This record gives sequence, structure tokens and C-alpha cells, in this order.
Amino acid sequence: MCGIIGYIGGQSALEVALTGLRRLEYRGYDSAGVAVVVDGGLRTLRRAGKLANLEKALAETEAGLSGTTGIGHTRWATHGGPTDTNAHPHTDCTSAVGVIHNGIIENFAGLRAGLEHGGHELTSETDTEVVAHLLEDELATLVRDGSSLPAGTNPLTEALRRVCGRLEGAFTLVVVHRDHPDVVVAARRNSPLVVGLGAGETFLASDVAAFIAHTRNALEIGQDQVVEARRDGVSITDFAGNPVEGRPYHVDWDASAAEKGGYPYFMLKEISEQPTALADTLRGRLSDDAEIVLDEERLSTQDFRDIDKVFIVACGTAYHAGLIAKYAVEHWTRLPCEVEMASEFRYRDPVLDRSTLVIAISQSGETLDTLMAVKHAREQKARVLAICNTNGSTIPRESDAVLYTRCGPEVGVASTKTFLGQVAACLLVGLYLAQVRGVLYGDEVARYVERLQATPTLVRETLATVEPVRALARSLVDAKAVLFLGRHVGYPVALEGALKLKELAYMHAEGFPAGELKHGPIALIEPGLPVVIVVPSPRGRSHLHGKIVSNIQEVRARGARTIVIAEEGDTIVEPYAEHLIRVPATPTLLAPLVTTVPLQVFACELALARGLDVDQPRNLAKSVTVE
Ligand code: AGP
Repeated sequence: MCGIIGYIGGQSALEVALTGLRRLEYRGYDSAGVAVVVDGGLRTLRRAGKLANLEKALAETEAGLSGTTGIGHTRWATHGGPTDTNAHPHTDCTSAVGVIHNGIIENFAGLRAGLEHGGHELTSETDTEVVAHLLEDELATLVRDGSSLPAGTNPLTEALRRVCGRLEGAFTLVVVHRDHPDVVVAARRNSPLVVGLGAGETFLASDVAAFIAHTRNALEIGQDQVVEARRDGVSITDFAGNPVEGRPYHVDWDASAAEKGGYPYFMLKEISEQPTALADTLRGRLSDDAEIVLDEERLSTQDFRDIDKVFIVACGTAYHAGLIAKYAVEHWTRLPCEVEMASEFRYRDPVLDRSTLVIAISQSGETLDTLMAVKHAREQKARVLAICNTNGSTIPRESDAVLYTRCGPEVGVASTKTFLGQVAACLLVGLYLAQVRGVLYGDEVARYVERLQATPTLVRETLATVEPVRALARSLVDAKAVLFLGRHVGYPVALEGALKLKELAYMHAEGFPAGELKHGPIALIEPGLPVVIVVPSPRGRSHLHGKIVSNIQEVRARGARTIVIAEEGDTIVEPYAEHLIRVPATPTLLAPLVTTVPLQVFACELALARGLDVDQPRNLAKSVTVE
């Protein structure tokens, strides 16, 4: 959730940290801080609020922060409110060590009590501060027993290893020390950390966006490992001190991909990038003999053939992509498919075995709820396939196979282009399963793939016609609530439309299956309430279409303002739609790839009309690395 950067090299650490934090601010934006090692001292500055507050304070400060070793942090508060005092970096009693942290240290209360008992003065309410004081103690112990350290071992690195052994929970920690200006040391457990390797400089960060302007050479860091970063590279060990290797990889996008590119908001840019993102997800995925091309495959065709049940686990928007996938997987493969919010999955003891396929969907690849679901599934011997957008992230690494959505960096906190990528990736997996299990013939799969390949063009056409959706959204700026209805795959689309409106415009919004309305939610309908209805194609499943037309009439009869999303040529709905939003005709199972788009635009425009920041909605973080 928090954004983290550490730097050691020849440049100004402060400048590198600030540039990195600007790119990471989407991870957390309730406070920010930096610490730089300067002439045998450690200078820190922290401010509540957005990064701009820290930058303003830096411009006003007399204290120089002009060293080449430093750390920076943007925070998403867990323990203690967003104040200057709770902002990171945190220091020890002597202000020698600076610590930044992402995650939650679950046993911090006991550790804090022990430290206070030992005479330490802790000044913040955070769990992080205990780490600075524990390091202070471990370093003092190491100085006392100086001879016990093997030659060449940096005391700060050893101290961090020892401290990590005492911590419970999830954490990425990055540490600097005034007496050890030649290293920045970091550790991770169930929380993201990547290394950037430059020429004579090394970066440590929550994700590659932080250092992409300097290098595209990255190293993945495994679970429970400590990294000692120097100007000339890194040494990595496990928490016991045994040397391990990082996995190098090259980042396949450049800094311009993580910039606004002329758009006032990342979200607007990312919505407009959807045709390309979708095309990139689909490109080269099926070989000539209709074998799916996974990015990292530790599963054989036989493994896929042996599957007798599918679970999909994910959170938020990714969960909605999973709900759509269920319709396709069950229809095409005849396998039972359950979709579950990752945060609930492992707590209800799901029935899993080696013939279960668990598909974990995650844009960031770092969502802790999803990661824990993956770990649980693997412990139960299930096969796990990750659908992910972020190379080098934890969920793909912990899975048996991965299919990357290749949508490029998504900076806006609200998922847009990666949702379409996730849906497309799920559809490919469904087709592949159907093919290897012999439920669909090769030519049937090929026909679907052909229709899928056409969807980027359909999304482009949809985007070209959304101007009236913007005007409609602006006209609803004072609405108190909006309901979203759908049937079949239109139901998850309704849920996604409601989620977008909640998170961006802070409005009460709910998605319902249209048929469920009469069982309770219809009581919410009052004159003038905007109700968005996602209408299925009248061609594919005509019985569904007829039913939803009745549902539209039910809400109209009670005075609702009907906003109908229907495909080109569907004239049946016209008399019942106060506002009609047209989308290109698509096969039913692929329809979410186009029907979601106007809902994204609707939520974004309504939030902008309310004067809100659509890239950084309140209380949210892009990558949710706590449970
Ligand atoms: C959606 O707009 C949100 N950003 C959120 O629901 C998100 O989809 C969820 O937190 C899952 O994130 P992930 O895809 O990175 O795992």
C-alpha cells in the first residue's frame, strides 16, 4: 500500500527519492517523508498530506539533504492517523537509523512494551517505529560482540536479519544508518520489494515505476530475504544469512508509459488506452494448434486435462472479472466454477485437491488477500494459475503458472484497462480448458478467438461515442445514489459500474441482478433515482433480453430514471430508456469488454464534475498489501 524507495549511487538521493515517490504516490498518499545520510548524520523530513506538502516543506527548510544515500516513503495509514509524527521514516532514540515500512507488524504491541521497558522512547503510534529501536538494540549488541560477525558482513545488514526474525506479519522494510553510508538495507515478507540495478547506483522500491526513469534492469527478491544494496550491486541472503540469488528481469515498458501523456488524469489516459491494452493481452496467446501460451508454465497439458473443478479468487474489480469468467468457464468447459472474494477464501476451508484449478486474478500481483488465498490453495495441493499485470510480483511467483495481461502500468487507483485485460485473459483460459478437455472443437475455439481478436476495435468504437455519457454524468452531479442492474454477464458489469462510482465519486451505488430486484432492492426505487441497466444482446439469449425489458419497466413504473446500455440495433428497449447508451454488438460472453467502458467513463466524469481527484480517491491505495 505504501510507496517505498531507497537509493545509493552518485546522484542526489533526495531528488531520486522525490522522483520515485511522485510515481509511487498512487500506492498511498496520506503522508510522505524522506531521510538522507549527510556528513555522518541522518536528516529526515516528514509531512502529513500529499507529497506536495513534503515538497513545500523541503523548499522551505534550511537543513540540507544533499547526500547520495537515502530513502523515501508515501504512506497509507494503518497504525496511527495521518500526522507528521506518524509519517515515515521513523528513527531510533539517537536518530541514527531511518526506517520505512510497508505492511503490518502484527506483534508490534509486545515489542513496543519490551522496548519501552528497556528505556526506549517511542514517539509515534505506528507499528514501524519499533523496528528502528530494535535495530538500535541489535547494533549495540553487535558492537559489544564485534568479533562474532564474519568478515565483510555489514553490521546494519546483520542487525536487520536479526530484527526480521523477531517480527510477525507482512513487511517490506528499507533502512539507512548515519554510520553506514555505503549501504541501504531492505527486507521483505509477503510485501513487495524490487531492486533496480543501474550503472554505479542501486534502487530498492515497492515497484519498478519508482526507478524506471533510471534503469529497466530489475531483480526480483524472494520471500523472507534481506538485500544489502551498494553502489556496485547487491548481496541477498535469507533471514538466517544464507546467500541466495535474485531473479533478474528486464522491464518491458519505459518511463513514458507511466506518465500522463497529455491527459489531465492517469485514469482518462488509461481508459483511452483500453483498445491497445486489450490487444496486447490477446496478442500471440494461442498457437496455431490452439495451445494457450502462458508466460511461466509449471503445469502440463495433462495437468489441465485432469482438472475437475475451478475456483477463481480475487478482490474488487479483479473479482468482478472472475464473476464474468465463471459464465464462460462453465459454459465452455462444463466444469463447475466457483468465484470467491480472496479475503474470505481460506477462512471457510474450501474443498481443494490436486485436480482443482485455482485462478488468482490480480493487477498488482501483490494483493495480500489474494496472495494468502494462493498460498492456501497450494498447501492443499491445488494447481494455481495467476492472471496478473505486474511482472516480477509475488502472486505469479507463488503460483504454478502465470498469464500476464500486459496492459502496461496502471497508475490510476481505479482499475480500468486491466479489468478488460483480466476478462480477456480469463476467456482465453476458458477456451483453452475447453479445448484440452475436448469439450469444444478446434474450429469452435478458433471462431471464439476470432471474435475476441475483434474486441479491441469494438472498444475503440465504444470510446468514440461516449461523449453523451459524459454529458449525462455531469447532469447527475447532485444525485444521491445510483443503482446498476444486469443479468447474466451483465450482472458483474453492473457490480463493476457501481464500484467505480463508489470509489471515484463517493456516491452510494449498488449493483444487483435485475431479477433479484423484486425480492427487496426495489424498495429503494423512488421518483428520479437514476438506474443503469446493462441489457444483454437480444440475439444470443433472447429469453434473458425479454426478462430484463420487464425489469426496466418495473423500475420505470416507480419513477426511476432509466439509463439503458444496449447493443446497436436493439430497438425493443428504445421506448423504455430515458437515456440510451449504444455499444457495438458482441457475442454475449464477450459483451462485458464493451459494456463496461461507458460505465467507467460515467463514473470518472461524475467524479470530475464533483471536483474530485479521480487518480487518488480518498482512503484508497492501488496495491492493497495488508489483510
Ligand atoms: C478497483 O478499481 C480497485 N482498484 C480495487 O478493487 C482492486 O481491483 C482490488 O484491490 C484488487 O487489486 P489487484 O487487482 O491489484 O489484486
